[in-house]
Amino acid sequence: MKNSIPSLLRAAVPFVFVAAIAATATPVRADAATPALPQMGFNNWNSTHCRDEFDEAMIRGIADKFISLGLRDAGYRYVNIDDCWANWQRDKDGHLQPNPKRFPDGIKALAEYIHRHGLKFGLYSSAGVSTCEPLQENRGFPGGLGHEKDDAATFASWDVDYLKYDNCNNQKVDAHKRYTAMAEALRGSGRQIFFSMCEWGENKPWLWAGKPPVDAGSWRTTGDISDNYASMLKIFKENVVLDRYASPGHWNDPDMLEVGNGGMTDLEYRSHFSLWSIMAAPLLIGTDLRTIKPDALQILLNKEVIAVDQDPLGVQGHQVRDTSGIHVIVKPLKDGSRAVAVFNETDAAHDVTVTASELGLKAGQSYNVRDLWAHAQTKGDGSIKTELAAHATVMYRIGRR
Ligand code: GLA
Repeated sequence: MKNSIPSLLRAAVPFVFVAAIAATATPVRADAATPALPQMGFNNWNSTHCRDEFDEAMIRGIADKFISLGLRDAGYRYVNIDDCWANWQRDKDGHLQPNPKRFPDGIKALAEYIHRHGLKFGLYSSAGVSTCEPLQENRGFPGGLGHEKDDAATFASWDVDYLKYDNCNNQKVDAHKRYTAMAEALRGSGRQIFFSMCEWGENKPWLWAGKPPVDAGSWRTTGDISDNYASMLKIFKENVVLDRYASPGHWNDPDMLEVGNGGMTDLEYRSHFSLWSIMAAPLLIGTDLRTIKPDALQILLNKEVIAVDQDPLGVQGHQVRDTSGIHVIVKPLKDGSRAVAVFNETDAAHDVTVTASELGLKAGQSYNVRDLWAHAQTKGDGSIKTELAAHATVMYRIGRR
């Protein structure tokens, strides 16, 4: 995919031209349930999985932390809960019901609590007969397959704003059919509910999920992330080549963030956050914010990097170099500048030079170069020279103004 004609054209044409194409070909959607920009928020899965600590007290505590830690002010909006929220059985009328131990006050009360914080609430289900946990064939919590209308009505009655819809126990029913059924049920539910598809890239959702009749806000492009560098790297490589399929309101989703969970160094977490942002990925925090360490929080609160992810032009960064473990990704921004991430995937430090023309910038001009991690501004000719530690990423914003 990397060497196809559109990619080469995109890398070669002047920036103004690229921006014009992006702006006219991908209008910002009017639908308020599907934000044009990648969704930002929290999901408990990466930190708790199905463990008992996942309950309504925890989720309320997370909502409180959104305010006290400044995450809402930084743009994080969704507080989403994942698998294991439901009871093992539907109720006597066939409706989903929460696990009474974990959520004794019910889902609607939790949604209200989150809404009172000026935040939005997301829930999880699977496009199968049961969800993914426990990992035994057809033994999970009740899934949505064949219950789409009823479940969408339940979600709407609970004031749910977001549905992550998984892929387990799908009985090999055609994915397009399964995800269309839920998308239509959500649209018919009377409530605007963001549709986050999670079929792990198995059926190339980037080719169809962003278009009617599914019209999902985002779709997972890969299998699950784990809290280690090799996993993050693998997922980055799978997602970075899909840039041409993303557009405002329709995002490639390389899975949730692991920043803060302890399995990577701060440098690696910085790379993770930089790469997800330059790929205009959903930024869903996956660590327990009640106990987060200051260094991890600082990464998640880097407003200059967040601004790259959330840039209103809505273009996923394009990889212009992938050689000897050095990756250069360029993302055009609304104000005419460009964000650049240079990532060293290797286990050794490297001196890296990137020319202005490789970034699609006119040579022989003076540019403002903003280092988005050092928060420092310099003037330059648009080229980058840097010594990159193993697994490190530098990120810049380069423009004339
Ligand atoms: C799948 C999804 C994960 C998570 C789990 C829950 O593996 O891809 O993100 O939702 O199911 O069981």
